[in-house]
Amino acid sequence: MLEKQISELQAATLVRIGAARSPEDLESVRVDVLGRKGVLALISKDMGKLATEERARAGKLLNQAKNDLESLILAAQNKFSAQKMAARLDEEWIDVTLPAPGPRPGSLHPITQIQMEIEDLFVSLGFMVLDGPEVETEYHNFDALNIPPEHPARDAQDTFWLTNGNLLRTHTSPVQVRGMERCSPPLRMIAPGRAFRNESVDASHEHTFYQLEGMMIDRDVSVAHLLYFMKTLLAEIFRREVTVRLRPGFFPFVEPGFELDIQCVICGGSGCPVCKQSGWVELLPCGLVNPNVLRISGIDPEKWNGFAFGLGLTRLVMMRYGIDDIRLLQSGDLRFLQQF
Ligand code: DAH
Repeated sequence: MLEKQISELQAATLVRIGAARSPEDLESVRVDVLGRKGVLALISKDMGKLATEERARAGKLLNQAKNDLESLILAAQNKFSAQKMAARLDEEWIDVTLPAPGPRPGSLHPITQIQMEIEDLFVSLGFMVLDGPEVETEYHNFDALNIPPEHPARDAQDTFWLTNGNLLRTHTSPVQVRGMERCSPPLRMIAPGRAFRNESVDASHEHTFYQLEGMMIDRDVSVAHLLYFMKTLLAEIFRREVTVRLRPGFFPFVEPGFELDIQCVICGGSGCPVCKQSGWVELLPCGLVNPNVLRISGIDPEKWNGFAFGLGLTRLVMMRYGIDDIRLLQSGDLRFLQQF
């Protein structure tokens, strides 16, 4: 009777072990058969009902069965571990005789690439390339650009102020002032560089971004000159016609001032997060230099005039490469950078 029960249990367990496809399957076999509430435990409960000499024999049989089943399950478990180890070895195999890969060549950041292209273009048009400090005086960043202390335009640019009264420049326009202080007209200059604003960061806003400022001062400079240079610039950058629109724009340092928008190259004008669903991206604010700005820097506005523009370099890179999140540009993420 007991022998039959045990041999049936052994047969059934063998079948289940054979069917197990994972260590988890095996574990559930072990719990069902050898566990505290398992089949063997149930069978041994009945032993109490047996006569004494019968009980000794049954105990032996059950013990034997328990040991047999334990070693069967253990053997099967070992097989799974061995398979797992073999798979891992396979996966981690390396050929140690191969030569080391060597240093990976770096590349210029896409902003640097575009900046250099634009510099080349303007140098070929007779412009000089100027540099200015990122920590600026209030005078160069605001006052000399015709933005006096109480002017609302100051609030439009959320400024990082330093405790000594200086600031992180909110635009590259102060380099115009430095250029006019250094050189007398006629004068053609561009100034690429970083600008900073105390903004909350999202897909289209960064606290740190790149601009490229431009200024030309000469005699009888007109909006037609400005447009010529802006169109030349955009054709060079996008290597094709880009749809643009000109709107009046207000900047204290130009009069008249314009917003030159380009049709969003990412969505083709249908609306996306980069163009805030408008289909247009503000890219190139510009205008004719306000006579006050010339006067403040000691240039006689009766004799000279000029145009100025402030190109959003970061935005431009996003447009050109179809990047829809500005944060990628400063992320330092090699998976991103290696694409350029
Ligand atoms: N400095 C302005 C800004 O960052 C952009 C700008 C507008 C620059 C018009 C210019 C200009 O030179 O003419 O908001």
